[in-house]
Amino acid sequence: MRKILLILLCALPLIAQPAGAEEGLHLRSVDVDMTDNAALQRGAKYFVNYCLSCHSLSAVRYNLFERLGLTPEQIRGNLIFTDRKIGETMAVAMRPEDAKRWFGAPPPDLSVIARARGADWLYTYLTTFYLDDTRPTGVNNLAFPKVGMPDVIWQLQGLQAAIPLSGGPHQNSSDVSIDHLNLVQPGTMTPVEYEHAAQDLVAFLVYVGEPSKLERQRLGLWVLAFLALLFVVSYFLKKEYWKDVRH
Ligand code: HEC
Repeated sequence: MRKILLILLCALPLIAQPAGAEEGLHLRSVDVDMTDNAALQRGAKYFVNYCLSCHSLSAVRYNLFERLGLTPEQIRGNLIFTDRKIGETMAVAMRPEDAKRWFGAPPPDLSVIARARGADWLYTYLTTFYLDDTRPTGVNNLAFPKVGMPDVIWQLQGLQAAIPLSGGPHQNSSDVSIDHLNLVQPGTMTPVEYEHAAQDLVAFLVYVGEPSKLERQRLGLWVLAFLALLFVVSYFLKKEYWKDVRH
């Protein structure tokens, strides 16, 4: 029994989630359900509408969405706004040099961003843009201080202001003395609706980072079952051999 437990423990990292977060930042946690195709489809739609103008997904081909239950017609009608073909990767039209000139930093490809940053970080990032006059874009971000990305989802979320810790001096930007963010101008979504939208977007980014993850988890269970069986067989085999040795 102890051996089985040991084997199980050794195999755990194979199916565990990757971790990755910045220290010192309180991350908002998010539940990501990779089997929820409707949520992933919504996330894909948000991505195409609000992110793909700047960020590519160079490791992703449009036909990935067939796995999420969309037909090629739906993909062409709802997700491809350029002359890209369904078998092509999700690229952006912007040239990297221009992007760098406009935003100070080129918008990175987001194919594996969920693996690099973790789902909680992404969720925190997408929900903590706040007004900051000292920044060229007029906004800053709790998860990514001095970020070059404009708040492209402000119309959905509304505008947030940073409320400093009471008594502390009011300072701008990446200051740790920020207590919380306050919605000062509502967006087209209610805060709860926006949280769901951000959640869907994060789920989508996790999914594109590892579309093979579900398959791997399923395989992982088979491997564990196989190891358990192998253990039983070897146990009886050992018993059989040692029986002769003792006599
Ligand atoms: C107008 C262009 C633009 C749009 C649209 C845009 N971004 Fe960005 N984004 C940027 C830029 C520029 C950076 C780099 C910021 C920096 O390094 O300071 C960035 C950075 C990021 C990062 C951090 C990457 C890292 O290095 O860890 C994430 C995550 C991200 N964007 C997600 C999104 C998502 C999700 C959307 C859609 C809701 C989106 N972006 C829409 C320009 C954009």
